[in-house]
Order: sequence, then C-alpha cells, then structure tokens
Amino acid sequence: MKQPNLIAIDGPAASGKSTVAEILANELNYMFFDTGVMYRAVTLIALNQISDLDMEHEVVAIADSIEIDVRKPSKGDGRKYDVWVNGKDITWEIRQPAVDANVSKVSAYAGVRTAMTSQQRRIGMKSNVVMVGRDIGTVVLPEADLKVYLDASAEERAKRRHAEIISRGDEADYEKILESMIRRDKIDSTRAVAPLKPADDAVIIHSDHLCVAEVVHKIKDLFAT
Ligand code: CDP
Repeated sequence: MKQPNLIAIDGPAASGKSTVAEILANELNYMFFDTGVMYRAVTLIALNQISDLDMEHEVVAIADSIEIDVRKPSKGDGRKYDVWVNGKDITWEIRQPAVDANVSKVSAYAGVRTAMTSQQRRIGMKSNVVMVGRDIGTVVLPEADLKVYLDASAEERAKRRHAEIISRGDEADYEKILESMIRRDKIDSTRAVAPLKPADDAVIIHSDHLCVAEVVHKIKDLFAT
C-alpha cells in the first residue's frame, strides 16, 4: 500500500488511539484530529446548560450551534491540543468523570451525530489527516485509505486510563474507571446510529501486549513498501 492520505483509527475507550495517532501524525507531518473531543465538548456544555440530558431536542440544539475550536497546545501540561468553546479553554474540563459518565448518552443521539459528522468530514477532506474515533472508518471517512481498529482488553485499557489520570496529578479509582469504561463501550457499540465496530476493511490490532512504539510500527508496516 502507498502512504495513505487519510488514516482512520477507531476503537473502544482508552485503547491508545489518540496517543498512537498523535505520534503517527507527527511522524508523517499530517494533521491529528481526535473526534471524541467534539462529543465531550457537547456533553460538557449540555451538562452546564440543561437540567436533564434526556431532553434530546435541547442537546441536539447545542450540537447544532456549538463552535468547537481545537488548536495547537498552548501549555506544556500534558495536553495534546487546546479545546476552546465560547472563548473558554475546556481542554481539561472535558476529561471530568461527569463527562465520561454522560458522553455516550449524548453521542447516541442521531442529531448530535449528524452535526458532528459533517464537521469532521469537512476537516478530513481538507488535508492529510489521522482521524480518531468510533465511526471514522465506517461513517465519517469510509473512503479512508487505511483503517485501523485498535483494541485491548477492558482491564488493560482501565489500567492505562488510570495511569494517565494519576500522571496528571489527579485522583483515580481503577475499579470505577473500569466500570465506567465498560458501560460506555456497551452504549457506544449497541447504539442504533454509527455504533462502535471495525469497518469491514479495517486492520484490527490488539494491543494488550504491545507498547505504543510497537503499535505505531505495526501501522507504519501496513504501508511500507
Ligand atoms: O478517550 P476515550 O477513548 O475514553 O474517549 P473519546 O475518544 O474521547 O470518546 C468519548 C466518547 O465520545 C465515546 O465514548 C463515544 O461515546 C463518543 N464518540 C463517538 O460516539 N464517536 C466518535 N467518533 C468519537 C467519540
């Protein structure tokens, strides 16, 4: 395979998608775009503005009007990028447990997905990109030249997410992370619209026993001639 212009990386929570994609994008000099950020931003704003996230119509109205700005990182505090909404830096706020607990409900709404998918396609069509999410290979960029589905066991993923939170200096409880992740994966993979699943033409990489560099290497091997 020649070097792909559009690379889609999908997979369940904390499977290492964004870490791997960021390295790959840097090495190839491509844009890195993490679509999960958009669903997290809509969820955060909905939590702040709406009393009940079951009010689908109101949540979709937020998704339709929100302007999410993802920029190069402005601080060296571990962030891969800045996320701004309404003039406010929400990069870390979107990682709160309350967002984790509600993001799958919000992202299952068809209207939310329509709004986010069209913005993501516009970004994907603009340049060489490594785009990360749950439905990039299946729905957002079905024409991607390379599709990877990055998987790992729930326990390994919870361990990684736990270490990530601790390294930021925050408190984390492994059992709670595992439980919340399994819940989120279940909602993401059983929703009616754009469920989490590998595209038919995706290469599945199971990363339980692979370090980040090995995963990056495996992906690059797919297009080495
Ligand atoms: O980083 P982590 O894997 O925990 O999650 P994320 O990639 O930031 O995604 C957060 C949530 O957004 C997921 O659990 C999905 O509910 C939703 N999402 C989605 O539905 N479609 C995408 N393309 C990306 C994220």
